[in-house]
Amino acid sequence: MLNILNVVTKDKTYPIYIERGIISKSAEIIKDLYSGKRIGIVSDSNVNGIYGDEFSKDLENAGFEPFTVEVEPGEKSKSLSVYERVCTKLLEGGITRSDMIIALGGGVIGDLAGFAAATLLRGVRFIQVPTSLIAQIDSSVGGKVAVNLEIGKNLIGNFYQPEAVIIDPNVLSTLEDRFFSDGMAEVIKYACIKDRELFEKLEKLNIDSVKECMDYIIMTCCSIKRDIVQIDEKDKGERMLLNFGHTFGHVVEKYFGYSKYTHGEGVGLGMVHMTRKGENMDIVAPGTSDRIQGLLERYNLPVEYPQMESKVVEDTLRLDKKSSSNDINLIMIEAIGKGYIKKIRKNNLKQFI
Ligand SMILES: NC(=O)c1ccc[n+]([C@@H]2O[C@H](COP(=O)([O-])OP(=O)(O)OC[C@H]3O[C@@H](n4cnc5c(N)ncnc54)[C@H](O)[C@@H]3O)[C@@H](O)[C@H]2O)c1
Ligand SMILES: [Zn+2]
Repeated sequence: MLNILNVVTKDKTYPIYIERGIISKSAEIIKDLYSGKRIGIVSDSNVNGIYGDEFSKDLENAGFEPFTVEVEPGEKSKSLSVYERVCTKLLEGGITRSDMIIALGGGVIGDLAGFAAATLLRGVRFIQVPTSLIAQIDSSVGGKVAVNLEIGKNLIGNFYQPEAVIIDPNVLSTLEDRFFSDGMAEVIKYACIKDRELFEKLEKLNIDSVKECMDYIIMTCCSIKRDIVQIDEKDKGERMLLNFGHTFGHVVEKYFGYSKYTHGEGVGLGMVHMTRKGENMDIVAPGTSDRIQGLLERYNLPVEYPQMESKVVEDTLRLDKKSSSNDINLIMIEAIGKGYIKKIRKNNLKQFI
């Protein structure tokens, strides 16, 4: 069944289409949005290898003139040098300001192609066709696009909304298990901050049976994100809730050199850590951290918060993007489904470490 969610932002209103098998109907959808011919598809070699040929052929059959710019899979492609190559290839392929770019891939491709679209010729329209779980429930919605610098992630970027998001839950069948689990950590995050019912549903499923319910899960997560983005597109308040588990998650990822823990694993550990600290302070309903831990285990995510030197942790926290000179915004939940922003004096950070 086709589900459509409309995202209304200050500059643009755009649809998110969610349906099993919809990737093969993309050309029809794009016909309604774009009357030109030239389309630059940006993808990585994994996704392009599986879906690229058919996707391009469908566009050609619908009268478009697509060409593909392929990059290596993985976070390394979110760099300024790859960005430059992608922009150059898009221009060489004939993209003008009135043409269309398509991001076909996971969050790396969405962020990279989206940033290229936002900046190339001062802005070319683009469409997100997210293929990983993280991209389908998080990165393709809301307009944050970026590349990384050596000194940190997502430091060069923009807010740039797509023309549409086309989500086919079926393509998740080819996603590696570890990336699926990574995405599940973010699904659990949405449930923790906004949706007790989703949390309870996840408690009844497991890593295999959850795949049957992916339409409902993607729809639920996208509508939570849509609602948050509509209130706070530029990340000044409500949108910070999406960072639940991320502050300490980033600390864990960074402490172990971004090699031991994936992003989702870090987020999972961060969520348990925050709620456990909160329970000790009597600001979180008792038993909440155990329930989150149980859910993470169910979806093959680690739950053992690692030993780290507290001085290094504190120094990392002080540099957190969600902080000002004296305060840091931590995201806490008072119970499952009820997230809120907790402003903490940097001098009082120790109680959370
Ligand atoms: N813009 C935002 O709001 C936002 C939000 C969350 C995450 N992100 C960004 O997203 C990135 C992480 O996203 P990701 O986990 O999707 O990474 P990714 O794009 O690297 O995809 C993960 C892996 O899965 C492969 N893959 C993707 N779809 C597949 C499919 N259907 N079948 C087989 N293989 C497939 C990719 O080739 C890659 O190897 C990070 O860079 C993060 O900063 C951005
Ligand atoms: Zn995240």
